[in-house]
Amino acid sequence: MLTRQDFPEGFLFGAATAAYQIEGHAHGGAGPTHWDTFAATPGNVKGAENGDVACDHYHRYEEDLDLLEGFDAYRFSTSWARVLPEGRGAVNEEGLDYYDRLVDAMLARGLKPFQTLYHWELPAALADLGGWRNRDVAGWFGDFVEIITKRIGDRVHGVATINEPWCVSFLSHFLGVHAPGMRDIRATARAMHHVLLAHGTAVERLRGLGQENVGIVLNFDHAEPATESPEDEAARARADAIFNRWFLEAVCGKGYPAEALVGLEPHMPAGWQDDMAAIAAPIDWLGVNYYTRHIHAAAPGTPWPSGTSVAGHLATTQLGWEIYPEGLKHFLLRAHDVTGGLPLYVTENGMAWDDRVVNGAVTDPVREEFIAAHLAAIRAAIDGGADVRGFFYWSLLDNYEWAEGYEPRFGLVHVDYETQARTPKQSYHALRRAIAR
Ligand code: FCB
Repeated sequence: MLTRQDFPEGFLFGAATAAYQIEGHAHGGAGPTHWDTFAATPGNVKGAENGDVACDHYHRYEEDLDLLEGFDAYRFSTSWARVLPEGRGAVNEEGLDYYDRLVDAMLARGLKPFQTLYHWELPAALADLGGWRNRDVAGWFGDFVEIITKRIGDRVHGVATINEPWCVSFLSHFLGVHAPGMRDIRATARAMHHVLLAHGTAVERLRGLGQENVGIVLNFDHAEPATESPEDEAARARADAIFNRWFLEAVCGKGYPAEALVGLEPHMPAGWQDDMAAIAAPIDWLGVNYYTRHIHAAAPGTPWPSGTSVAGHLATTQLGWEIYPEGLKHFLLRAHDVTGGLPLYVTENGMAWDDRVVNGAVTDPVREEFIAAHLAAIRAAIDGGADVRGFFYWSLLDNYEWAEGYEPRFGLVHVDYETQARTPKQSYHALRRAIAR
């Protein structure tokens, strides 16, 4: 594994988590979220599991942050529903106090706090009003952003508006895999636009408060054609436009890609063109989340985007995701080009495995190799000219993996959900050795 010395001076090594996946949303006065609704509806989430208890991080954050000794930074999210249980209106002071203590606990350990403002737990009361389909969501989000920023903005090192807009919109409104579990192209087109409008609104509000180091976190999935046929290549281009280009290019002021707009335009909200300038408000950095690749084939006779994905031949993780580190290098270089050289952070990268504690230890050589290969890909991207400033492993802890429940284990640290015991894995020790000063 490459070590700290192989990276530029000041390169940050961190780990990432998100509020709903670890905190235990039943505690501390948080309001219901659309994930609670989704999980309570049969067939959506494995075992109908939800984030009520999760890793009980709400009560154990001191102990959990201690695990980050030797790291430089910690990426976390602040739950909208914990701060504003109804999404708007009354503030839950207990929630604000919690994030205040959490940020102080990071600083006390010398960790740079990287905050994410939206990592998917939309307050259920706002879902009732149409959630991401309703244009007003941008303003509601902006108001939440102001409230939480006034409380902790003075101490965060970096702040991201939205985590993975593709998941917020396409995965959740077209594929139906995440909350609110819709499969509706009109809802999708609106969500894909409104999530970016919410980003632009948040940037504007953050600037108004004098906040620095503002970014967004996008996810990328390497797209390859199943064959060299023009039909499969076109299917790949459509998938690439929806997943890898729509959000990035809009944020960079390049508009929406034609290959995606051709299918979505009829379903877009009227006047969407007038929002593009707000969406392209300048940012200071881009977060790149990267896990895997997909292989795309044409699906003639099916509605737009008329594509399907086919199985690849690479080694896979517990979730069946192919391990393809070259994709990370590709996207870092591509993001460098499209953003015109913006500072980049790998805000998520990691893998799930069926890790078990045996005699008090977790042996996870595949994860250790995974991390080594992706650090090498980052190094290669830096050599290629990308201004990559940091790497956050997903995740610090095993946690609630959304529709997959608690089965997939992404953590550097194993969590026993019966006892809440934490057991650092072999990969945790390896990464800590690699980043030691
Ligand atoms: C990303 C999410 C994160 C986690 C990882 C595995 O899409 O941002 O919350 O679920 O995938």
